[in-house]
Amino acid sequence: MKNTDLDLLSTNGLTLREIEGLLEAALRFKRGDDVSRPLAGRSVALVFFNPSLRTRASMQVGIYELGGNAVVLEPGGTSWTLEHRVGAVMDSDKTEHVAEFVRVLERYCVAIGVRTFAALKNWEEERTDPILNAFAQYASVPIINLESAMHHPCQSLADMLTIREKLGTSRKRVVLTWAWHPKPLPMAVPNSFALAAAQMGHDLVIAHPPGYDLDDELIENLGPNVEITNDVDAAFTGADVIYAKSWGSKQFYGNTDQDIATRAQYRSKWIVDEEKMSRTNSGVFMHCLPVRRNVIVTDAVLDSPASVVIDEAENRLHVQKAILARLLGG
Ligand code: CP
Repeated sequence: MKNTDLDLLSTNGLTLREIEGLLEAALRFKRGDDVSRPLAGRSVALVFFNPSLRTRASMQVGIYELGGNAVVLEPGGTSWTLEHRVGAVMDSDKTEHVAEFVRVLERYCVAIGVRTFAALKNWEEERTDPILNAFAQYASVPIINLESAMHHPCQSLADMLTIREKLGTSRKRVVLTWAWHPKPLPMAVPNSFALAAAQMGHDLVIAHPPGYDLDDELIENLGPNVEITNDVDAAFTGADVIYAKSWGSKQFYGNTDQDIATRAQYRSKWIVDEEKMSRTNSGVFMHCLPVRRNVIVTDAVLDSPASVVIDEAENRLHVQKAILARLLGG
């Protein structure tokens, strides 16, 4: 039986000490104090069902810098279309089952990273991360979540490193704010950011319009230091960190047109602009990227000294090296 502690599917289950250990290790890589090559002579598979710039490039570079080789596969593109359902009768468009895909791949590779977004069709199903969990179920090597329907732990750990670098180790008022976007997006980034910020002990504020609540179970797991509000103006006041992200409504899941019609009223109210930022505690602006300029955030904020999005993206590299070294370095 596989030791599931070897997977990184979310930060759920990581202790504060373990998270801090990863952040310290990431800083050692970033400063050049750790130039070890624990992946020398070994390969790591990176499976992308969806497009990516940061995750793909930073994982490939990180694996290279640790001495290893990245094998990048895109099911339905550079590898066969994949089925994940148990008992599926594969007489349609899916050529290979995850059961074979994973067990073949692990004969070549010491870990598998997987990116598989939500399809935004069936909330009850997608909130269980079925594709990611199928990989974890069949694999005997570590599975690293490179963003699934519900979680993006590599992003949130880089976010926590960025907050620590910019603002120090003390508790901060950290605001996760919904922003308007022309279409509904998955909840992985806001879920993982909220979870990691709570795990780090920050005072977390989640601001979103009515009807855009995150997953109930996730919210329950955040503990007592979380405030949820529909008042975006109040949320920004005194904030040390503004983390903007758009996401879709659970109640309109699978009904894109209804979500788009409902969110239209929030377009101008929920953009991150200079006026809102002026009410923060000289707060930093964060976003996982890619970001739509003058939709999620104005040029004036994104191009201001308060914006730390490029450093945040760089930290993906250092944190992922720390994750790979922790999972595969022993
Ligand atoms: N933030 C993030 O995961 O970026 P990519 O989608 O470009 O990988």
